[in-house]
Amino acid sequence: MGGRTSMTSLTKISPLSFILILLHSHHHPATATATTTIYEILPIFGLPGGLFPDSVKNYTFSIEDGTFAVELEKQQPCYVQLEDYMVCYDELISGTLKIGSITNLEGVRVKWLMIWLKVDEIKVDLPPNDNIYLQFGLVNKKLDVNQFRTIHSCTYQDKLMFKRQGRTTSSSSS
Ligand SMILES: *[C@@H]1O[C@H](CO)[C@@H](O)[C@H](O)[C@H]1NC(C)=O
Repeated sequence: MGGRTSMTSLTKISPLSFILILLHSHHHPATATATTTIYEILPIFGLPGGLFPDSVKNYTFSIEDGTFAVELEKQQPCYVQLEDYMVCYDELISGTLKIGSITNLEGVRVKWLMIWLKVDEIKVDLPPNDNIYLQFGLVNKKLDVNQFRTIHSCTYQDKLMFKRQGRTTSSSSS
């Protein structure tokens, strides 16, 4: 019983103090986001770093209420093919980061039964295990969290079209 109490207070306190330590260790707290990546912030909340693709340009994160906004490099959607789903990330992704979840998520969609559905929430179990849950509309899908452990590269729409046509492209412009 005592263990449960300390566990609860730990999960409430540790991420914040962790971030405070991170911020404190930099001499200019205002620019802490430039050195602490979003991929490093996610695991502090028990979430896998690979939830966002490799093309993150910059982001903002509020320690006070957990709200964040992530901006991707290109001004076009980024596609990532996972084991179970194709995921589409908009150029701007936002939401609220809490221990074990992202709520109010905007800018992430998954292709499910041939249609694109907006992901509203992402959750993991606490303490973390191999499961991650994507909530889109009334549907809640359990996935293997390990497919989000590595940071995935973006594929863009033009490349997807070429793939579909069975053609290979060597991009001359990048
Ligand atoms: C990223 O940087 C640009 C230019 O500095 C800024 O306008 C934008 O608001 C930033 N995006 C985020 C999510 O912080």
